[in-house]
Amino acid sequence: MDRPEAPDPEAPDPASGGRRGGGRRIRVDHPLEAVDRRHVFAELRAGLTETPCRIPSKYFYDDLGSDLFERITEQPEYYPTRAEAALLREIADDVVSRTGARELVEIGSGAATKTRILLDAMERAGQLHLYVPMDVSEGTVRRAARELVERYPTLSVHGVVGDFMAHLGQIPDPDERLVIFLGGTIGNLEPATARSFLRSLGSQMHAGEHLLLGVDRIKDPAVLEAAYNDAAGVTAAFNLNVLTVVNRLTGSDFDVASFRHRAPWNAEKHRIEMWLVAETAQRVRLPALELELDVAAGEAILTEISTKYDRVLAASLLDDSGFGMERWYTGSEGLFGLCLAVRR
Ligand code: SAH
Ligand code: TRP
Repeated sequence: MDRPEAPDPEAPDPASGGRRGGGRRIRVDHPLEAVDRRHVFAELRAGLTETPCRIPSKYFYDDLGSDLFERITEQPEYYPTRAEAALLREIADDVVSRTGARELVEIGSGAATKTRILLDAMERAGQLHLYVPMDVSEGTVRRAARELVERYPTLSVHGVVGDFMAHLGQIPDPDERLVIFLGGTIGNLEPATARSFLRSLGSQMHAGEHLLLGVDRIKDPAVLEAAYNDAAGVTAAFNLNVLTVVNRLTGSDFDVASFRHRAPWNAEKHRIEMWLVAETAQRVRLPALELELDVAAGEAILTEISTKYDRVLAASLLDDSGFGMERWYTGSEGLFGLCLAVRR
């Protein structure tokens, strides 16, 4: 994979709604398109036949789910986005000068709002060339690409619509990249999966390249539980939407209205767990999976984990995965942690 292609400059730019200009600086690859439906069905079947039942969290993020997630980040109880943004403002210039990065690669980029704090710092340093957002949500990758080429005149965007557990090999490989993985999304992976993910990310990086990893910190469980149980019910709607996505993908008949959102703190595993609890017993038919599930009243599906870290846990995660922690930033608030790590 190389730099963004420069197609015919006269051609209308589909990515900017037919207007000319920014599209010449946008390229989007879509490895997810080639994924066979049978693979999706097998993955969902594997999760739904585990005990407890699980649904892989990437299925949260259809267009509605991605919008709901953006609304979660605006809820007063959901502090991580604001805390990470404040911390990024404190450290962005330091990170850019330490890494010398000219290219920014972002895994699970979403709306790429906080990303702008780093892009601004790279622009100030005269180092802003390429941004590579990778996300399963096609709409968010395309929207971020359009907005960012408009905002930064020297920037090209090479988006990858893909699964970070499967398609890291699609990340382009120019020089002096900084890879970022924000939002505490690493905490959404089981510890062993987080390690294998970071190892394969490292295998796509050169020795000496940097990773900026965002982790939410262990804190008062009441603060954590409130962040995942906002009073306006946006997190509940987000959690329940995953059943609508599964119904649409598989032709299943989960009775979405009979499930309730629960997000308790699990102290032993230092994580918030997102559950959907069935209020009434039901038989769910999933024809595409050749599966019928008997769900008892009170039975629950585990839809997400959000593991919280401290410095020691983050350092051992990185160390086990081929990275060395160079800086641990927590900023004046101390709510959130950013690790600047170097690929050994
Ligand atoms: N980085 C943003 C978004 C975090 S939410 C922030 O900090 O606010 C997690 C993001 O990861 C979503 O945009 C979701 O679409 C994406 N995502 C989840 N699982 C993924 C997977 N397996 N592969 C690629 N992207 C994934
Ligand atoms: N990465 C986010 C986090 O762990 C994802 C998230 C926030 C989430 N709220 C959620 C996932 C609610 C599922 C349900 O904080």
